[in-house]
Amino acid sequence: MSIICSVFFWTGFLAVVPYLVLVLYGAYGCKEQDLKKKYNAKWALVTGGSSGIGAAIVRKLASQGLNVVVVALDDSFMASFKEAIVTEFPQVSFRFVGCNLSEAQGTTYMAAIREQTDDIDVQVVCNNAGFITTGAFADIPLERNMANYNTNVTACLQISHHFLNRLLDRQLKGLVTFTSSSAGFIPNPMSSLYASTKIFLTTFAASLAAEYAEDGIDVLVIHPSPINSNFYSNAGKMSALLSAQKLSSSPSVIADTICCNAGKVIVADQGIITVVMKIITTKLLDWNVFTEIMKLALRYTGDYKAMKVRRQANKQD
Ligand SMILES: NC(=O)c1ccc[n+]([C@@H]2O[C@H](COP(=O)([O-])OP(=O)(O)OC[C@H]3O[C@@H](n4cnc5c(N)ncnc54)[C@H](OP(=O)(O)O)[C@@H]3O)[C@@H](O)[C@H]2O)c1
Ligand SMILES: *[C@@H]1O[C@H](CO)[C@@H](O)[C@H](O)[C@H]1NC(C)=O
Ligand SMILES: *[C@@H]1O[C@H](CO)[C@@H](O)[C@H](O)[C@H]1NC(C)=O
Repeated sequence: MSIICSVFFWTGFLAVVPYLVLVLYGAYGCKEQDLKKKYNAKWALVTGGSSGIGAAIVRKLASQGLNVVVVALDDSFMASFKEAIVTEFPQVSFRFVGCNLSEAQGTTYMAAIREQTDDIDVQVVCNNAGFITTGAFADIPLERNMANYNTNVTACLQISHHFLNRLLDRQLKGLVTFTSSSAGFIPNPMSSLYASTKIFLTTFAASLAAEYAEDGIDVLVIHPSPINSNFYSNAGKMSALLSAQKLSSSPSVIADTICCNAGKVIVADQGIITVVMKIITTKLLDWNVFTEIMKLALRYTGDYKAMKVRRQANKQD
């Protein structure tokens, strides 16, 4: 009996304590770093840089004296951000690439990005663009699911592949970051692509981090706790998301996390909500068990019931 108890104790201890040590180190042990100096860099590139978390990252990097290539949809956010940022940082150079990262092949946006970057060394690359689609998978038009997938996954692969090769060929140090989400820790019915693309990014980043450590290229993946941005206005009225928004903090927190954690940790679980969620969903409860609970519970949620009603109504027209 006492052997069984101590096996349970040590399993729990080994699962949680080293994790908390890493979290505390990331949150309090890492001081802010000047990324321009750290990587001896002149240029950075941020996707989804025109609003929310991306815009905060652009501001942070610019405040450290890095010139920034801003990649985002060529829309009103981009236009007003462009106007604001060049007046805020007159001493820094900016380039703007207005493009749609949802494109399947990536040829159009990669050509646009290369046109603005082939003559410079981009050493800090922040993969951050994304949007969320809510609703049951089969109810969302396939085209929209694919567009979401391409923005969240395909574009990150295209962009990282291109700039990693540039850095390796020129033997430059650098940083590649990915904005992932704690949503990736658990099954996410009613936004199924969200969790699955995010966990893709996390696992992908973790693998790259090992591949390029020797080359002086750091890889960092951030799991933000809820951040107040346009993300929520684009997300529709999903009740789970609306309650997350009430607890949200400023996008600059993520920019600060990048500057503190670059090269120090690979996975940055930012904020108490992410940390508690990770402990509950990956350490206290087994993933398979969590999945079974999710399956039993989903049918009682308002989002699910509303979906059923809509689907029934659509069938009748
Ligand atoms: N907010 C949160 O609480 C939270 C929590 C966990 C993870 N995250 C992650 O953080 C990242 C940034 O989210 P955010 O909260 O900053 O959202 P946001 O304010 O909506 O910003 C998204 C950015 O991505 C750009 N974008 C969207 N679709 C695009 C496309 N097809 N092609 C090119 N650019 C596109 C947007 O451009 P436009 O402005 O021109 O539309 C915008 O600049 C996302 O990956 C999200 O999953 C957010
Ligand atoms: C981006 O491209 C996707 C897929 O080609 C399309 O569905 C979407 O409407 C486009 N978005 C914008 C803002 O042009
Ligand atoms: C795609 O990624 C973006 C940011 O990286 C995120 O905001 C969005 O929710 C993701 N969408 C899906 C369907 O995974």
